[in-house]
Amino acid sequence: MPERTWIRWPEGRGTPFGYGADYNPEQWPRETWLEDVRLMREAGVTIVSLGIFAWSLLEPRDGAFDFSLLDDVMDLLHEHGVAVDLATATASPPAWLVTAHPDMRPVDAEGRVLGFGGRQSICPSSPVYRHHSLRLVRALAEHVRDHPALALWHVNNEFGCHNAHCYCDTSAAAFRAWLRARHGTIAALNDAWATSFWSQRYGTWDEIVPPRLAPTFCNPGQQLDFFRFSSDAHVEQYLAEAAVLHEVTPDVPVTTNFMNTGGTKWLDYLGWGAHVDVVSNDHYLQEPSPHPEAELAFSADLTRGCARGKPWMLMEQSTSAVNWGRINRAKDPGELWRNSLSQVGRGADAICYFQWRASAGGAEKFHSAMVPHAGSDTRVFREVTEQGRRLAALAEVQGSVVANDVALLFDFEAWWASELDSHPHNGFSYRREAERLYVPLWRRGVGVDVVHPDADLSGYRLVLVPALYLVADGLAPRLEAFAAAGGTVLVTFFSGIVDVTDRVRLGGYPGAFRDLLGVRVEEFRPLRPGCAATLSDGSRALDWSEDLSAPDAAARLTYADGVLAGRPAVTRRQAGAGSAWYVSCDLQPDAAASVLDAVLADAGVTALAEADDALELTRRVHADGRAYLFAINHSGADAALHAGGTDLLTGAIHEARVVVPAGGTVVLRIGG
Ligand code: GAL
Repeated sequence: MPERTWIRWPEGRGTPFGYGADYNPEQWPRETWLEDVRLMREAGVTIVSLGIFAWSLLEPRDGAFDFSLLDDVMDLLHEHGVAVDLATATASPPAWLVTAHPDMRPVDAEGRVLGFGGRQSICPSSPVYRHHSLRLVRALAEHVRDHPALALWHVNNEFGCHNAHCYCDTSAAAFRAWLRARHGTIAALNDAWATSFWSQRYGTWDEIVPPRLAPTFCNPGQQLDFFRFSSDAHVEQYLAEAAVLHEVTPDVPVTTNFMNTGGTKWLDYLGWGAHVDVVSNDHYLQEPSPHPEAELAFSADLTRGCARGKPWMLMEQSTSAVNWGRINRAKDPGELWRNSLSQVGRGADAICYFQWRASAGGAEKFHSAMVPHAGSDTRVFREVTEQGRRLAALAEVQGSVVANDVALLFDFEAWWASELDSHPHNGFSYRREAERLYVPLWRRGVGVDVVHPDADLSGYRLVLVPALYLVADGLAPRLEAFAAAGGTVLVTFFSGIVDVTDRVRLGGYPGAFRDLLGVRVEEFRPLRPGCAATLSDGSRALDWSEDLSAPDAAARLTYADGVLAGRPAVTRRQAGAGSAWYVSCDLQPDAAASVLDAVLADAGVTALAEADDALELTRRVHADGRAYLFAINHSGADAALHAGGTDLLTGAIHEARVVVPAGGTVVLRIGG
């Protein structure tokens, strides 16, 4: 199989840092294209994503292809030194196709058809869509296969962004086929779904439908399997498009843009990452948020987990405001660069945007871009140009990897299952709980890898297991072995509760992890809004507490009031050469931070460098020992970093201490 591990840069271009945007020339007259390529050069743009929403242009009538605009634009870009990440254009079907085949439109859980006029008007299981999309992909690939600008394929766009789940009859039939393959027999399905409850036993496959709107909660096994099926349906479309591309252009790598950002949870990207040549991600700051930069960092670390540690591509972010929030804040001066550098420091070897030029019309005309409505004589374009210069200065960082001591286990299936309805606390948020552990480490400059529970844990000192409600049978023994060999494990509440079919692990919570942690929980005691549990050190927990005993662990903190007074709240078990900690309540930031300090000390994990609190730190390393320390100052005051090396951005050599100016950044080459 050909090596397809990164952008295939055109001959003679070397390996520049990837920098660019979605480029939509079809929205502009040809004169504008000439200005575009001139400004791209000025800004140091090296790659653009072309044709993402161009299906109606490339195939204006059924089977009649017209690639002339694409040819002209690709030639022009190539002449000006810009490579092309070419989209398969299948993300939004043209009106003629949807009109001819209205049954390809997605249907929501309430039976409403989501019609044409937005985008992604697609049932992911529609054979009509599959047929027409693959026909387009083949025609396009055969047409451009030898174009020198073709550097990467961009399959579809943000699969499932608006059509993650479709409940139509076509999807129902595909769901049944998927269930047969997973469960084999109807008896096995009945068992997995616990259908004895509420008289839900199925006699034949044909009786099964997606979890459509029902008089009350749908069966949780049915919901969970439907979410798995839906994620797989999108992956299947990806694989079908990628297979055509690999056949026609075997040397060109293939990507599709993931959405590891905020609460986007419906696609299992950690699994999907194994199937793409280059992992790419779209990230938009979640606002309002108590810590938008930490959320960005978490998403980047998760994307690196999807990429199995390899460099990845930031495919989309915004230069300034988005247009889909209630009030869309413009980014502050310097923020654009700080956002990008955080992702470079976390393994991104390409930084791109939605989009190159702000649209004059259409639904996203108020979304920021590299070239704003006001043109190139703007703060944003000046920052874009400065960023191009800085990324070029970071070229040698490419290919280095991030090597951290801490792993945080994250699982999309557990996310889906833990937020199903009729649970003990229905305000529970899996992502929030994961970030609650992550943020204090981010603040301390401790590097964290966000990885799937099946990942190899042997290189880590500390494994964090936040609120991992659903766990497969193999994880607890692996964590036990990890601890026995000297590792430290920290598990937080509502973990280990069910198996992969969402059936409770009996005998006391936290089910799968009872022996590992040496605790036994008899009852969850979620807390109502305004109520808190006080702990023995005076700190408070909100939202969640548990009635537990610790037969084989020491209580490090106990509950101090109410019916739980005197019972363990935070425990530590000496597990062979290592330790296993349990936090049974939702600790508020200060308390969580002090528990984490004790856990870090146990694990022997320290910050990547000594530095003032305001600095975000990350580190990348080459196999030959050259390492890079990234420091980002998110505050309004100068901050000190106690490290020496050459600043790649300025060329300055620092002995042992660098002042990172307010809002500024430093990238030190250290060692090697
Ligand atoms: C992404 C999408 C882009 C654009 C952008 C705006 O979800 O891929 O096409 O819509 O959001 O923020």
